[in-house]
Amino acid sequence: MTAMNTTPPTPSPASHFDAAARDWDQRPTSQQLAAVAPRLLAQLPLSPTDQVLDFGAGTGLLATQIAPLVAQVTALDTSAAMLEVLQAKGHANITTHCGDVFAGLPGRYHAIVSCMALHHVADTAALLRAFADALHPGGRIALVDLYLEDGSFHGDNAAKGVQHLGFAPEALGALAQQAGLADIHFSHIVQLQQRNGRSYPLFLMTGRKS
Ligand SMILES: C[S@@+](CC[C@H](N)C(=O)[O-])C[C@H]1O[C@@H](n2cnc3c(N)ncnc32)[C@H](O)[C@@H]1O
Repeated sequence: MTAMNTTPPTPSPASHFDAAARDWDQRPTSQQLAAVAPRLLAQLPLSPTDQVLDFGAGTGLLATQIAPLVAQVTALDTSAAMLEVLQAKGHANITTHCGDVFAGLPGRYHAIVSCMALHHVADTAALLRAFADALHPGGRIALVDLYLEDGSFHGDNAAKGVQHLGFAPEALGALAQQAGLADIHFSHIVQLQQRNGRSYPLFLMTGRKS
């Protein structure tokens, strides 16, 4: 007789975000992330004819703030439920695209932005190469994520699909340069207070396709 395995299966990262989608915007972390868009936009020159990609757009905390300033925002995410919440916000110039970034980016862009999605992708070098390939010459990146942390930010890293415990700017900047991006600059963008009583700094990395 075989013993029954009573350990529940680890949920996939997509199902984690699918389950979290409905209440995503009400989370204390999301409410603190509202400060990211105006600070990022202060460092990202955009024009009304621009096409912008938001990688790991989720419910569109960033995409909805950028959309009024540009021609089109493509919101890319693997979670259909997160994108459904974004679609319900009814922005005419946001196109949602449900799929993995490595399945091919659906266009070419004047800017690629992202907030808190980089740490979910194992191969950062390949991700930055995909961004560089999808940018028009002179196109820009503006990417927000955690500085290196000790693993306590998410708590359950495996269930949430965390691949990196934040990033060291020197190492991430070097990968961006190797991908063909120039003028790499890091700045502190926001400090997130978590329920564990600790506070975590986030960076904004900007750069330009050379
Ligand atoms: C922590 S959430 C951030 C969502 C949103 N940017 C925000 O700040 O609220 C990370 C998002 O990245 C998406 N994601 C993770 N890996 C991805 C991949 N390989 N391709 C596309 N989206 C991905 C997840 O589904 C999730 O919605």
